[in-house]
Amino acid sequence: MAIDAPEIIRQPVSVTRKMSASLPELRAIAQANGLTIHHLGAGYPNPEVTDPRGFIAHEQAFFEHLRERQGLNDPEALPEFLRESYNYTDTLGPASPREAFAAVYGADWGVDMAPELLLPTVGATGGISLVCSLFERPGTPVAYITDAPTYAGFLARATLCQHARIYSVDLDDEGPDLGQFRAAIEQARADGYRVGCYYTIPDGHNPAGFSFSGPRREAILEIAREEGILIVEDAPYVYISYAAAEDRPAPFFAMDPSQTVHLFTGSKIGLPGPRIGFIYTEAELAIRDGEKVALLDLLLTEAAADVLFQNPQALWSFESLLVDENFERRESLWPVAEKKLDVYRENRRILLDGLDAELVAYRDRVSWTVPEAGFFSVFTFHDDSIVTDDDFIAKLVAEHGVVVIPMYGFYPADALERNPRAGLDQLRLSFGFTERTGDERVKDLTEAVEAFGRAIEAILP
Ligand SMILES: Cc1ncc(COP(=O)(O)O)c(C=O)c1O
Repeated sequence: MAIDAPEIIRQPVSVTRKMSASLPELRAIAQANGLTIHHLGAGYPNPEVTDPRGFIAHEQAFFEHLRERQGLNDPEALPEFLRESYNYTDTLGPASPREAFAAVYGADWGVDMAPELLLPTVGATGGISLVCSLFERPGTPVAYITDAPTYAGFLARATLCQHARIYSVDLDDEGPDLGQFRAAIEQARADGYRVGCYYTIPDGHNPAGFSFSGPRREAILEIAREEGILIVEDAPYVYISYAAAEDRPAPFFAMDPSQTVHLFTGSKIGLPGPRIGFIYTEAELAIRDGEKVALLDLLLTEAAADVLFQNPQALWSFESLLVDENFERRESLWPVAEKKLDVYRENRRILLDGLDAELVAYRDRVSWTVPEAGFFSVFTFHDDSIVTDDDFIAKLVAEHGVVVIPMYGFYPADALERNPRAGLDQLRLSFGFTERTGDERVKDLTEAVEAFGRAIEAILP
């Protein structure tokens, strides 16, 4: 017997989830047609950089080092990191990993970070959820401004709340449209919503496949200041960067930490399994009766009641990433990123060179973004007869063995109202993931891009 719960509303399934659910069936059809499956869909880190064995060896050596250091006076005594790792901790988690992270990350981005303003989260996903629940808690109508398209995980979380509404802003090749950005804020207010924040991914945008320009960031920040709204900056790809150091635009939190809620995750620079993340913000909110409170204090209360405690051992483990082979604190995380970038740079080159080579004759009919960071390029058809809906995607798998993600599902409802064809001329191509590693990674990705090129040739009228 079903339990009666008429107030529960069925949530739409995200486009990436829908794709992975339908993949086994599509794969069987492709294989029955004698085709190899080519992955350009999965947005995961590459298995070549997520082999945990090197990480675990260094982590264990770091723990041994802590054991010796913290047991200096009494070898029988329980080392502090071990006690904390298996105990209830403060909601902020152990101090040492936060201090190390504030020093190293702050130095990389030129921010004098205060460790007490770092709140551990369960990855960036946990950060998104926490920020949303803070704005949703009063139970009054709340608006989120975000990009069209935007991250599927944000859409999934924001649309859970029945009194929240998304107002989206179209992107051009530098970032969000400034006129629309201000208009979205004004419209939300005119409709009776309190604007919670603007959520975005300025570096290596997932799924839009590019990074916002420096001037556009400045302009967005200026409007955010004038309108009094927070920028929630989701930053999983800041280190998965292909730009020369001098060309990297500053993240919002480096431009103004008092206007920004920065979401860091260890999933891409480290490993995704432990789901380490931090919120950093110096913002203050004026609450009832004009009282000013640190946003972090509000988030802390929310976290204490919501996730209870993150895993303190995972935070200590994360600290091992912040020290070198001699257990000296690193000056920067870039050398850690560099090991991963070898793989991602090569993958990106394979994709971009492959598309150039395969589709040279079609340059006026298709285009693709050249990402300065992250895992994604957006491929666009300039041909009204092509509609990249579910049938198109299924056909690409069944007839060509190529797996890509359709873009339409990344567009919030209001963007689809503005333009019912939004995203239906686009595909998200991912070059992060391959099933195999080393030379076989290169071979698999090269073949995937070739197969994609052939499929496009076959599809274009
Ligand atoms: C924009 C964006 N935010 C958040 C996440 C998830 O981060 P985490 O693994 O820290 O939950 C991803 C991962 O794909 C992402 O692309």
